[in-house]
Amino acid sequence: MTLSTHTYINQLAQHVGSEVTLKGWLYNMRSSGKIAFPQLRDGTGVVQCVVLKTAVPPETWDALKAMGQESALVISGTVRADERAPGGFEIDVNNAEVLQQVHDYPITPKEHGTEFLMDHRHLWLRSRRQHAVLKVRHTVVQAVRNFLDNDGFTLADSPIFTPAACEGTTTLFEVDYFEGEKAYLTQSGQLYNEATAAAFGKSYCFGPTFRAEKSKTRRHLTEFWMVEPEMAYATLEDVMQLAERFLSYIAARVLEDRSEELKVLERDTSKLEAIVAPFPRVHYDDAVKMLLEGHERGALEAKFEWGGDFGAPDETYISSQFDKPVMVHHYPAAIKAFYMARDQERPELALGVDVLAPEGYGEVIGGGERATSLEFLHEQIALHQLPQEAFEWYLDLRRYGSVPHGGFGMGIERCTAWMCGIEHIRETIPFPRMLYRIRP
Ligand code: 4AD
Ligand code: MG
Repeated sequence: MTLSTHTYINQLAQHVGSEVTLKGWLYNMRSSGKIAFPQLRDGTGVVQCVVLKTAVPPETWDALKAMGQESALVISGTVRADERAPGGFEIDVNNAEVLQQVHDYPITPKEHGTEFLMDHRHLWLRSRRQHAVLKVRHTVVQAVRNFLDNDGFTLADSPIFTPAACEGTTTLFEVDYFEGEKAYLTQSGQLYNEATAAAFGKSYCFGPTFRAEKSKTRRHLTEFWMVEPEMAYATLEDVMQLAERFLSYIAARVLEDRSEELKVLERDTSKLEAIVAPFPRVHYDDAVKMLLEGHERGALEAKFEWGGDFGAPDETYISSQFDKPVMVHHYPAAIKAFYMARDQERPELALGVDVLAPEGYGEVIGGGERATSLEFLHEQIALHQLPQEAFEWYLDLRRYGSVPHGGFGMGIERCTAWMCGIEHIRETIPFPRMLYRIRP
């Protein structure tokens, strides 16, 4: 048996009628006295194989029959198109080699609790559903990069170790390493993006970000991946237009490239088909009115007060009024970061926007227009009790060629959970880090 050339399960269509060698792991097996149906998975798909006792040497038959789930397996056989088979093909096996017999694989087809599965995440990744989720994640990432690259953005990644807070000091991870200076893990690459946008016009960074949130919700990770585009000579309106084009493109790519995975996930694809620009825009004032109406109708328990930040039930209620993502803008400056530009007429409002996804997925994008005035930022840094000297380089951007500019950040995991229609963001990253989880 030749092992040097092998075929992947997702290429079987090109090999109908010919003999192939497949290399993978046993996914599942049914067998009787004279015939066995091992299902082989190889990372690209799962295919059912048919082994007749008489078609293989006796020791091979015995080895096959003894295999437990996830045994390592190489199979040779002829590809047969079969409409009734799950992937459309079956393999008539004429030879096989069991590289490792596995017994007692911890994850069985029976139901396991979430904690158990999370503890076995390194193995859980092999299951069909987790595989589908991470394939969607890959497509989201690919779509993000394609969109920005084709739209004239330059990739200019920002550092992970930073001397200052971007999104506020309450969620910072401190790192004790740099001589005589405190360092932190980045919460956002935005401040650096503002520098690269002034250098390149349009730039983006894409990498891991960290939030030391003490909240344990289905939307929060401690370590997550954020893509952040930033544009020079851009206003809040430009940022909103970019956000709606960006999300429409991502949804279209997921629908086009991951239809099989969406089936596995039983995703209602009409929800994704609805993600088409333009998106509705709602001023914070009007969002508050909506919430108050919701409270009067008994749909919301708490009575919302103007000036507050939206909680998960508020976001869900606002987005339930629309069948597309909704862009809420002009938040009170008091609940937003120090760098936000202000509304000229109503300086208590920030030129910020959050994109709220439908179906209760909440905020997937946060961003807006940045303050341009050196004097104003001096004040804000003092007001937020941030260390002035750590921001001196940032303030240079306001000293040398300050122009209106803006951008946003999107969390890859929140977007992926939404695309997949899954409950919890922890399944959208290979190895999630959360308040109570650092293993495996
Ligand atoms: O709204 P955030 O905090 O905005 C910023 O960090 C801006 N500086 C971005 C910018 O304008 N360049 O975070 C942006 C997005 C959120 O909308 C959400 O999708 C995601 O990042 N996010 C999280 N995802 C998972 N777990 C967390 N703890 C997250 N915090 C934010
Ligand atoms: Mg936000």
